Amino acid sequence: MMLKIRTIFLLSCFCCISMANAGKTYVKSPDGRVSVEFSLDRKGRPCYSVSYGDKKIIRPSCMGFELSDGTSLSDGFRIKKITRERCDSLWTPVWGENDSIRENYNGMTVSLSKNKIRMDIEFRVFDDGMGFRYVFREHPYPVLVLKEEVTEFAMTGNHTAWWIPEDYDSQEFEYTESLLDEIDAPGVQTSLMMKADDGIYLNLHEAALVDFPAMHLRLDKPSKVFRAHLTPRPDGTAAEVTLPFRTPWRTVTVSDKATDILASNLTLNLNEPCKITDTSWIKPVKFMGVWWEMITGKSKWSYTDAKDFDLATFDYASATPHGQHGANNGNVRRYIDFASRHGFDQLLVEGWNVGWEDWYGKEKDFVFDFLTPYPDFDIAGLNDYAHKKGIRLMMHHETSGSVANYERHLDAAYDLMRKYGYNTVKSGYVGNILPKGEYHYSQNIVNHYLNAVKKAADRRIMVNAHEAVRPTGLCRTWPNLMANESAMGQEYAEMSPRHVTILPFTRLKGGPMDFTPGIFRMDITSFAPGYQGKKKRATISNQLALYLTMYSPVQMAGDLPEHYERHIDAFQFIKDVPVDWSRSVYLDAEPGDFIVVARRDRNSSDWYVGGVTNEDAREYRLDFGFLPEGAVYECTVYRDAADSDGFTNPERYEIFDTRVTSASELPLRMARAGGFAVRLHPIQ
Ligand code: NOJ
Ligand code: CA
Repeated sequence: MMLKIRTIFLLSCFCCISMANAGKTYVKSPDGRVSVEFSLDRKGRPCYSVSYGDKKIIRPSCMGFELSDGTSLSDGFRIKKITRERCDSLWTPVWGENDSIRENYNGMTVSLSKNKIRMDIEFRVFDDGMGFRYVFREHPYPVLVLKEEVTEFAMTGNHTAWWIPEDYDSQEFEYTESLLDEIDAPGVQTSLMMKADDGIYLNLHEAALVDFPAMHLRLDKPSKVFRAHLTPRPDGTAAEVTLPFRTPWRTVTVSDKATDILASNLTLNLNEPCKITDTSWIKPVKFMGVWWEMITGKSKWSYTDAKDFDLATFDYASATPHGQHGANNGNVRRYIDFASRHGFDQLLVEGWNVGWEDWYGKEKDFVFDFLTPYPDFDIAGLNDYAHKKGIRLMMHHETSGSVANYERHLDAAYDLMRKYGYNTVKSGYVGNILPKGEYHYSQNIVNHYLNAVKKAADRRIMVNAHEAVRPTGLCRTWPNLMANESAMGQEYAEMSPRHVTILPFTRLKGGPMDFTPGIFRMDITSFAPGYQGKKKRATISNQLALYLTMYSPVQMAGDLPEHYERHIDAFQFIKDVPVDWSRSVYLDAEPGDFIVVARRDRNSSDWYVGGVTNEDAREYRLDFGFLPEGAVYECTVYRDAADSDGFTNPERYEIFDTRVTSASELPLRMARAGGFAVRLHPIQ
C-alpha cells in the first residue's frame, strides 16, 4: 500500500521579536487544553513548563546542553525570533492500529542566539501532549561534541511511576510500581509512565531517535526533577553532531484517561513521513518458529559440542553432531507443514547457521558469518519446500553483540536472503557490544540499527530487531522496521502477570514489540530442561488476548506445534486474529491492572476484542457500544473458565458462540493472570 499524506491545511505565521528577552511566551494545543510556556530567565537560560487544563503538569524546567569544551548551550541566550506553525493533516500508515492518523498540533519555534551560536527550540503541542527538540544551527565549530543534556522534567508531586532502571545495554527488566521517592535506581528508562494523585496520567519518552544516544532520566528526589542523561560514547562524551543538527524530540503525553495514553499517536506524529516510495512489499506477518524449543532447552541452536574454535577453519562436515540441533531438515519440515496447514505466513528458523557453539558472553568479534548453513540445514531445499507450501522462512541474524562483524557481513547476508526468497529478518544483539566501549544505546550503535533498516529497505526486507535500542516511532519513516523486542518478552517465561498490563503504557509507546505471545503449555518445566523451577503465570485466554493488547504487525505463535495440537480449538483464535487494523478503540485500562481493547480488521468488517488482567481476578462486563448501531454480529468468545487460574490451573478455558449488537453486554470474568479474546463477524 502506498503511503498517502493528505494535508488539510498547514498555516505558518511569523512574528519577530528582536528584544533581548521576550519574557514568557505560550503555545497551546488545538483544543486549548495542553499549554506550554517558554521563557528565558535573567541569565538567558531557556525554560519550559506544561499545563493540562488548569493544572501544571511540568513545573518550570531547564533546557539545553553542556559541551565537552566546557561551554554550554543552556544559558546566555537571547531570543532572536519566534515562529508559529499550525498543522492539521491525516496520514495513512502502511500498517498499524488505525488506517488513518490525525497529526494536529500547534507549533512554535524559538530561535535563540549567543555570540556566534544559534540554536532553535521547536515545540509541537497536540491535544494529547507535547514534544520539543533542539536544532543546532550555527556554531563557530561546525562539529559539536556534547557532554550531557541538561533538559529537565520537573514533576509536580510524588507520582506513582512504572519504571525500569537505567541501563545502557538492556531493557529486559520487570517494571516496578512505586512512588517517585521510592525509586531505588540511579536513573530510569523511557518510556516512563506515571500517575499523579489527582488522576492525571503522564508519560515521558522521546521520538525520532536518529544519530543520537538514547536518553535516560535521573531523578532528584527532594525536588522531583528528572534530568536527561545520555548514553555515553567510549570516551565518556555523549554525542558528536555535525551542524545543522536536530535532536530527537523529548515528549510528554498527558490525559486524565489511561486509555488516551494507550491510544495516543504522539510518538509516531513526531517522526518524519515515510521515506520508502513503494511500500507494496511491506506486509504484516503472522509466524511460527523453530525457537521456543531452543529457548526452553528442549533442543539447541548449536550443531556440535565444540568450544573455542575459529569459525574460519572449523570443519563442520567432519565434526560429530551432538544430536540435539533444532534447525535440522526433518524438524524444520515438520514446522513448515504445521504452519502452512494452519495458514501462517512465515516460519522463523533460529540456529540455521554456523557459529552457535561459540557465541555467548565471549565478546568475540567473529562468531557468525550469517551465510553458511549447518550441514543438516538445506537452505535451498527448505526454502523451496516452504514456498511450495505457500509460506516463507524468516531469516535469523544473531550478532552476539558484534556490530563490527555484522556490518562487515550485512550486504552479503541480505543478498543471501534475497537469493532464497526470505523477506523478513529477525536480528538480535545479545551480549556486550563490539567495538568495545560502545553500548547498545550509544550514538554509534543507534546509528547502526537504523542503517541496517535502511539497507534492508533497499532490498525489500522487513526487520524485527531484538535487543536493539527501544523504539521511538521510526517505523513511520521506515515502515519496514516492523517490530523490536527491547523489553522483557515471553522468552523469560517467568514474569509477573502485571507485566503485560504495563508494556502497552511504556515500551509500546515507541512502536510494536515482538513479545511472542501464544504460549499454551504453562507447565513448561515438565518438558523444558532450560526452565526448571520457572513458572509461566498466564491462562490460555490471557495468551490469546495478547494478540490484541500487545499490538504488532509481526505476531508470533510462540509455542510448539504439539502444544497447539493439545488445544486446537483455542488455537483457532490465533489462526483467525488479524495482524493489521483499520480502527482500534481502547475500552478500559489501568496501568499495572488491566487493559481491554477492540480492533477492527483492516481487510474485513470483523472486530476483535482482547482483555488481560494482572495477578488479580476481575469481573468485567464487556459493553459492545463500539460496534456500529443496528448490525448483528456472530460472536465467538474465548474466556477463562470458572476454575481457571493463571497460577494453578492455567490451561482451562471455555469457548462459546453468541450473537451481539452494539446494545449488548457480556460478563467476562478474568481469572488471576487471565483474560479473554472475542471474535465478531457481521451477519449479512
Ligand atoms: C534473544 C532473543 O530475544 C531471542 O528471541 C533469541 O532466540 C535469542 N536471543 C537467540 O538469538
Ligand atoms: Ca531478548
